[in-house]
Amino acid sequence: MPTDKDQPAAPLAGKHPAPPCTLVIFGAGGDLTKRLLMPALYNLASDALLDDKMQIIGVNHGQRETSEWRDELSESLRKFAADRASTFHTSQLNEKAWDWVLQRLQYFAGEFESDETFSQLAQLLATMKTGNVVFYLAVTARFFKPIVEHLGRAGLLKEEGGNFRRIVIEKPFGTDLASARDLNAHILSYASESQVYRIDHFLGKDTVQSILAVRFANALFEPMWRREYIDHVQITAAETIGVEGRGRFYEQTGAFRDMVPNHLFQLLGMIAMEPPNSFDAETVRDKKAEVFDAIQPLSARDVVFGRYEKGPAGPGYREEPDVAPESRTETYAAARVYVENWRWAGVPFYLRTGKRLAARRTEVSVQLKAVPFRLFRDTPVDALTPNVLTLRIDPAHGTTFDFNVKVPGPVMQVGAVQSSFNYGDFFDERANVGYETLLYDCMLGDETLFQRADSIETAWAAADPVLHPEGAPIDVHGYAAGSEGPVEADALIAADGRAWRSLIDKSKKNEEDKA
Ligand code: BG6
Repeated sequence: MPTDKDQPAAPLAGKHPAPPCTLVIFGAGGDLTKRLLMPALYNLASDALLDDKMQIIGVNHGQRETSEWRDELSESLRKFAADRASTFHTSQLNEKAWDWVLQRLQYFAGEFESDETFSQLAQLLATMKTGNVVFYLAVTARFFKPIVEHLGRAGLLKEEGGNFRRIVIEKPFGTDLASARDLNAHILSYASESQVYRIDHFLGKDTVQSILAVRFANALFEPMWRREYIDHVQITAAETIGVEGRGRFYEQTGAFRDMVPNHLFQLLGMIAMEPPNSFDAETVRDKKAEVFDAIQPLSARDVVFGRYEKGPAGPGYREEPDVAPESRTETYAAARVYVENWRWAGVPFYLRTGKRLAARRTEVSVQLKAVPFRLFRDTPVDALTPNVLTLRIDPAHGTTFDFNVKVPGPVMQVGAVQSSFNYGDFFDERANVGYETLLYDCMLGDETLFQRADSIETAWAAADPVLHPEGAPIDVHGYAAGSEGPVEADALIAADGRAWRSLIDKSKKNEEDKA
């Protein structure tokens, strides 16, 4: 299983190296650069998908030598590679590929809001072998506007002589509809939409991209992918971690803003979009935009918020560092969402996400309607397990399908079974961090996996009534750290005669209990 590589390989089949460019990373000293961008660049270098002329400039405040920056990045890369819990875990680093990246790194000290930084940066970029530049804003959101403005004013966003100038912007893109509109307007006054790459890192996951493959590369699913056959859809992003030292950020953000109008809506978009005519970026994004546009604005009635309290998994949220003892921030959100169009009218999409839950599990379950009548005397129709197709995104990668068969024996009895597919059984699972495709696509100029201004705004528009409720603020209910979430969320779905899928894999639990 060649997951560990000894030397830069030939490019993957059908892939060619990205065009030469200089990657300028604002936030060179930050966590994102260490944890995700460097491992992704290393993986791309291992696969020979970067051009030899590529250069990487890391901008950060504070003087330091390039050699210090390189040492620091080498140390963190090795740490992540050795960490079994890390998505980048690999038993052997390809030293040649990492060295290839190291040789191209250059540290550049500068404040993000000073004119001097950008005039010096312009001078440096003028000496590069290529005029193509990607500016990656791996910084906290308050720097998005000033950096883009400075880049624009310094003339660094002008695309001349066939060279591209692109800006990659991380999440959070705004905190509600008004701020997202304002941020879009600001950015688009210095750059054109085709230069802006707004990241939602969920779209970098192979298992998320595969939703379109499952839907549109198989004849089996599409005919039943509609309101006539689908009872409801559950979209879950459950985490076991708490706020991990991000208390200050989380206090301002909360689970709903952090996950729902972005990551969970992106999953919903992939599930609900109409088939595009091609995989051309605009065609795919148009189809997704139609879904966001059709989402009925959420109301407080359709939402449940929760906050973890002391429980089997540890202390409560209010006891976390940098969290107010009286905090009203939610660490869990569940929502019932309707997509008002011909295909989905009346089909609820139940979304839930939370920290310190019983299991880490990101998945989409599409539950089919029950069969129409009672054919099996010994098994009433309502006792039949409904068919459920589950697309497992993290940490398991694959799909499961729940269906019914005859139980062996003389009596015609029906029993529920599950068939499953795991990526690892069919493909070499690579130690990808999810940013490889996003970086590569940005260099190629393929915007399919990036969010367009209009979609960002329609998604926030659907979420806005929850963020700014007309009446009292939405109640935040307690749940024990390590549980499946607040009982009020169970009541939300139970009111429709349905139940959440358990976060705990029952078969595994039985095995553990027996052991
Ligand atoms: C981030 C959120 O965007 O996504 C985090 O800010 C969350 O709070 C993370 O933990 C989840 O992403 P993943 O890829 O680990 O499921």
